Amino acid sequence: MTSTHDASTLVTAPGSEWWRTAVIYQIYPRSFADANGDGIGDLPGITARLDSLADLGVDAIWLSPFMVSPQNDAGYDVADYCDVDPLFGTLGDFDAMLAKAHGLGIRVIVDLVPNHSSDQHVWFQQALAAAPGSPERARYIFRDGKGENGELPPNNWESVFGGGMWERITEADGTPGQWYLHIFDPSQADFDWTNPEVQEYFRGVLRFWLDRGVDGFRVDVAHGMIKKDGLPDYTPPADGDSMGGEDDDVPYWGQPGVHDIYRDWHQVLAEYDGDRALCAEAWLPTPDKTALWVRPDEMHQAFNFPYLMTEWDAAALRTVITDSLRAFPAVGAPATWVLSNHDVIRHASRLALTADSPQGEGIGPDSAAQPIPELGLRRARAASTVMLALPGSAYIYQGEELGLPEVIDIPDDARQDPTWFRTNHEKYGRDGCRVPIPWEAAAPAYGFNTTGDAWLPQPAEWADHARDVEAADADSTLSLYRTLLAERRAHLLGSAPFTWLDGFADDVLAFRSGDVTVIANVGSAPVELPAGRILVASEPVDGRTLPADTAVWLLAD
Ligand code: NOJ
Ligand code: CA
Repeated sequence: MTSTHDASTLVTAPGSEWWRTAVIYQIYPRSFADANGDGIGDLPGITARLDSLADLGVDAIWLSPFMVSPQNDAGYDVADYCDVDPLFGTLGDFDAMLAKAHGLGIRVIVDLVPNHSSDQHVWFQQALAAAPGSPERARYIFRDGKGENGELPPNNWESVFGGGMWERITEADGTPGQWYLHIFDPSQADFDWTNPEVQEYFRGVLRFWLDRGVDGFRVDVAHGMIKKDGLPDYTPPADGDSMGGEDDDVPYWGQPGVHDIYRDWHQVLAEYDGDRALCAEAWLPTPDKTALWVRPDEMHQAFNFPYLMTEWDAAALRTVITDSLRAFPAVGAPATWVLSNHDVIRHASRLALTADSPQGEGIGPDSAAQPIPELGLRRARAASTVMLALPGSAYIYQGEELGLPEVIDIPDDARQDPTWFRTNHEKYGRDGCRVPIPWEAAAPAYGFNTTGDAWLPQPAEWADHARDVEAADADSTLSLYRTLLAERRAHLLGSAPFTWLDGFADDVLAFRSGDVTVIANVGSAPVELPAGRILVASEPVDGRTLPADTAVWLLAD
């Protein structure tokens, strides 16, 4: 197998800052590759499959959490930040994975979950055993309840996963006690980030992984770590999105105090060589607001969720791209681009939904929103062709390079997302984008492992999406992504100057990125292509007519 990489690319000249232009591939470890056959992906599985990612042409990988965790929220409930969960392997397995990735010229970003810990974290257990008002309680957000006997929660906040945001504990003496705050599941207790002890602890966690050689961190819930003083009541708008995105002063999202934390972390990373980077998972309504997370002394990147949430509509896309290319560079940061991740409906389904479906709610057999599969894949291929031409850094979620759709018909008793349970099965949640990915069509579990077990069932149609099938097909989505990544690299599109082109119909996106002209037909009528040799096309193009839901890259003849 030939790699487009060279390990020497890891030796970066000071200031060249790889993260400004990188294509970063998200690995969801439990669903990527399972070396020991227990049905859950693991670190040795990742190591064994890294060559495929070098072959695809990515610059870096980001791993969702693999640290010690009871797995109530698929690892986003961490009980020990400085060790690997036995489910995924050992620290030695991590070191081997990192060494292999670096040898292939691929950088490694790990997930850091600082907003909350698992209730199994030693600190939370100590807090439960200690008295109200103790230093142990002060690491989390414990409050007395309202009502005559403290039987009511301290405020009216609602958890992202459904239900209230407070859980009442039983004190060590057996009496009903205080309440603690959890933005997510009750097993995920929010830290009090105004506490210097919490701040110092996480500096240590950062150093632990930086010393092991990681290239950066994706920071979970980077918009939620500081809560407004006094914890005032708040009712979200009826059409709001539970992870943020409301254009409002939400007392637990986007509070100004979060920025002090990132300024502090920026200094910690700056102690290390090699351009280590912080990427914010911050769900904010606009690129301008998101850009506040990447001012020069804060984080290096922030996911562009306004872009991810934009529907397949030329005017809306033009606006969000224009705003992004203004807002991020205005603070000295690269724009970033993302279409899918482990929390949202895969874009091969989302872009052709027949009704709205808010982020994180997922779709199942009874959802009002249902995708039209062929249309979704066609739009996804066009959308990725647009995205990978845009200057800045782009994120790819495992399986999107295979054109995987959301899995809708997961049996109810196989579902695992806490959202499904906390909403009494009203919201399906995110399992449909987390199904283990297919590698070989004819192998057990499509090569995810050798035993055929998979923690979420894989649909029969996925044989057609297996990597070996797609690798042998020049028209497959995998072949499209490989070409896009190779040409993006060859034409330096990550750092290319960008200009919109005039003279096209309203539902056409037309722009220049470096020496490449990109034309995307987002409407339904065919579009006559301008002059230029077709370098990449998201669908076969007959003559000079660009069909609906198709994008091309053109080069001057
Ligand atoms: C965002 C993560 O991406 C998601 O999967 C998780 O459930 C929440 N944060 C809570 O950690
Ligand atoms: Ca395993």
